[in-house]
Amino acid sequence: MTGNYSDLKGRTAVVTGGSRGIGAQTARALAAQGVSVCVVGRDEQALAGVVAEITAAGGAAMAAVADVTDAGALDGVRGAVAERFGPVDVLAAFAGGQGFPVPTAELTEQRWREVLESDLTSVFLTVQAFLPAMLERGSGSILTMSSAAGRQPSGANLAYGVANAGVVMLTRHLATELGPRGIRVNCLAPSAILTERVGSRMPEEVQAKVAATHPLGRLGVPQDVASAALFLASDAAGWLTGLTVDVAGGRITN
Ligand SMILES: NC(=O)c1ccc[n+]([C@@H]2O[C@H](COP(=O)([O-])OP(=O)(O)OC[C@H]3O[C@@H](n4cnc5c(N)ncnc54)[C@H](OP(=O)(O)O)[C@@H]3O)[C@@H](O)[C@H]2O)c1
Repeated sequence: MTGNYSDLKGRTAVVTGGSRGIGAQTARALAAQGVSVCVVGRDEQALAGVVAEITAAGGAAMAAVADVTDAGALDGVRGAVAERFGPVDVLAAFAGGQGFPVPTAELTEQRWREVLESDLTSVFLTVQAFLPAMLERGSGSILTMSSAAGRQPSGANLAYGVANAGVVMLTRHLATELGPRGIRVNCLAPSAILTERVGSRMPEEVQAKVAATHPLGRLGVPQDVASAALFLASDAAGWLTGLTVDVAGGRITN
């Protein structure tokens, strides 16, 4: 169930991490509301698959291959979207996901830097690419992606926890700065979401144990995050900014 947000119809969204998992599901959900969507990732084939699915369902979508740690590549995405769909109304900076567990004594400087780049700096660079046009128009809804691992210590590596905690503050800072300019900024902090990646790495018996740690008694699915994203992107959330929403089956941390 996604709800119906008729105000979204005719708008344009960019979803980084749109080639799979949570980002792909959010792109499908936005497109189902009549939003023209640009999905961004590094895997051209996977992006093409998501675009084909959306198009087959009657939606409008395009793919842009880019590494979100590369400001030049993001600038290319900005130009391509402007040419095809026009100004961007909704920016979902969802790419990332380097939460693999590593004891801190074994976390190398290189891995630390890579995770910070992938899960925090990428969000800054993505916002930077699209912000000038939003400021010019005096409107926009930005969604960022944190994690339960950024809300409290977890089994994920330290760099991932710190990066995702950083995304929460980035969101609050931007919301305060950009609210007077007509731009809302909100964050999603999912707990365990059963994407293909998570499913392939987490044996079923472990899934059952993790599910039991959530008051609602199950793992999340990508649609749970997509539903929250739709609401926050829409005018229904018109007086909400600076929030971090724990999409966490009741395992909330604040
Ligand atoms: N699943 C969970 O349980 C969970 C929980 C909390 C937070 N999250 C967060 O939710 C987001 C999506 O996670 P997911 O579980 O859906 O992961 P996923 O299925 O592994 O998808 C990750 C997505 O991010 C993209 N991506 C990663 N690094 C990128 C880069 N440098 N440049 C461009 N694209 C990049 C990937 O694109 P390509 O493969 O095409 O490069 C892919 O589309 C991540 O930020 C993750 O930290 C997930």
